[in-house]
Amino acid sequence: MRIIKAKDYNAMSRMAANIISAQIIMNSKCVLGLATGSTPLGIYQQLIEWYTKGDLDFSEVTTINLDEYRGLGPDNDQSYRYFMNTNLFDHVNIRKEYTYVPNGLEPDRDKACSSYNERIRACGGIDLQLLGLGNNGHIGFNEPEDAFEKETHCVKLSESTILANARFFDNQAEVPREAYTMGIKSIMQARKIVVVVSGEGKAEIVKKAFTGPVTPMVPASVLQLHNDVTLVGDEPALSLLEV
Ligand code: F6R
Repeated sequence: MRIIKAKDYNAMSRMAANIISAQIIMNSKCVLGLATGSTPLGIYQQLIEWYTKGDLDFSEVTTINLDEYRGLGPDNDQSYRYFMNTNLFDHVNIRKEYTYVPNGLEPDRDKACSSYNERIRACGGIDLQLLGLGNNGHIGFNEPEDAFEKETHCVKLSESTILANARFFDNQAEVPREAYTMGIKSIMQARKIVVVVSGEGKAEIVKKAFTGPVTPMVPASVLQLHNDVTLVGDEPALSLLEV
């Protein structure tokens, strides 16, 4: 695993955006696995800036997002599809029909998950997967469990995730209780993985995930077994790691 320590959030965002843009430049038809949450926002702003300057071209890029709340549609401003449209896709020349997010409006859980798995396979797998890290070690919505989950599945969100995500909703009761998420197997099959972390609040879980035992109780710990992981963090988030 490579660890890149950046001074602050902006520097971390630029470093990670550089890795993603190198991927796009080296392979204009690449498949990017993308994440939502607050950490990648600076990365997306940086990518938009480089696109606007003419340095990046998304016209042949495909994207596959990690997850979506079950029950929320693209017009709901808390859905991850809405997040991706407003924070990245609407501002670059990507073909929207080549941007994939699980269908939150599909009530049939099996159907939603199997069609997403087929989609990932049809794209030929993910070249570079961007991941944030949850406070409890979740990646995507793969919460601490007794076993590593496999491909796309429907999860019940843990109390700590509902609490952490409540900041984006009017109140905690509005946070959906279920989500569709790519599984650990789908994530681990990505050819490259870039994990981004920021802030002191992540320091403890970063240490646990990347230096502690590999256990489904800390889902991100499985990344220690992947052969191409880059952890990009700011100084506070990496403060408990000996880099
Ligand atoms: C988002 C996702 C989540 C977040 C994680 C960290 O698509 O899958 O796993 O990456 O909850 O969120 P932030 O970046 O808000 O700390």
